[in-house]
Amino acid sequence: MNTLILGIESSCDETAASVVLDGREILSNVIASQIDIHTLYGGVVPEIASRKHTEAICAVTKKALSDANVKLSDLSAVAVTAGPGLVGALLVGVSFAKAMAYAAGLPLVPVHHIEGHIAANYLAHPEVKPPFVCLVASGGHSHIVCAEDYLSFEILGRTRDDAAGEAYDKIARILGLGYPGGPKIDRLAKEGNGNAVQFPRVHFNDSLDFSFSGVKTAVMNYVHNAEQRGENFSRADIAASFQEAVTDILVSNTIKAAKMKKADTVCLAGGVASNSRLREKMAEETAKWGLKLYYPGPVLCTDNAAMIACAGYHEFMSGKTGQLSLNAMPSVRLGQKL
Ligand code: KG4
Ligand code: ZN
Repeated sequence: MNTLILGIESSCDETAASVVLDGREILSNVIASQIDIHTLYGGVVPEIASRKHTEAICAVTKKALSDANVKLSDLSAVAVTAGPGLVGALLVGVSFAKAMAYAAGLPLVPVHHIEGHIAANYLAHPEVKPPFVCLVASGGHSHIVCAEDYLSFEILGRTRDDAAGEAYDKIARILGLGYPGGPKIDRLAKEGNGNAVQFPRVHFNDSLDFSFSGVKTAVMNYVHNAEQRGENFSRADIAASFQEAVTDILVSNTIKAAKMKKADTVCLAGGVASNSRLREKMAEETAKWGLKLYYPGPVLCTDNAAMIACAGYHEFMSGKTGQLSLNAMPSVRLGQKL
């Protein structure tokens, strides 16, 4: 029998719904982005995000069902991001999914957002199977995870302060590029010299953790000092030099993790995984060490519900369904019970 999962995602600033068949085939993938409104404020405003999710979620879900040409009664389960994320934003998706599951008599499957990002690789590349080492880098998280199988994960490293995407967004704001900063820095950096300024690369002894607050402060100081002295500087050089520092750390820790776990495959996930320089460097390094490298296309890197439906499929097949008492869990850790 075919297993059809409806996925719902509302953890940050995208309202998304998707229907996925047997954990592999995307039948629909609808994403309503709120970027335009948050751009006005230079970042995500949680209260506005919640309200916009409430406005969009019905239409987005209806479209996901109609694009997939399925009825509620065809579904096997409803999977929803239960955390981590903005609590008000998560609550919209969780409440909506609970109501749908109850009304349609369907099982409810809570999904961890990072597990969803990792699962995007199964949708993009049917040949990808655990175990592998995955770098999950987005606006909210920077983790190196060993996916031991579809449902068990070991966290090998995490950020001790800012997430990589958060650092991109803050530096973009300092350079006057606007929100979201990642794609804008990625583009501008192509015109700059990545060796113009040596920004710090933080490594910890005996740990694969990240720290991006030092490089962020260094860029801020560089820009403010230059402005105070009335010196001209190239924003493209700063963007490129910042990007070199961040991607150096992301790549070197991920390669160390792969060697430590004796993995033969490395995957990338999360919004920052669409960064062109990260992909380029990771491709060079994985090739050097004989590792296979996979990453999803840009639409499956940033927040979407197909990845939630895919992760939800594996949870559902293993019998892990949730209760209607499910609550939003804004800071739940990967591996913690949902
Ligand atoms: O996965 P995502 O949509 O949301 C979270 O779960 O946080 O990731 C969004 C983040 C933002 O910080 C954005 O600036 C960053 O991913 N991002 C990028 C690129 N595209 C998106 N960062 C660097 N380079 C990119 N090309
Ligand atoms: Zn995300």
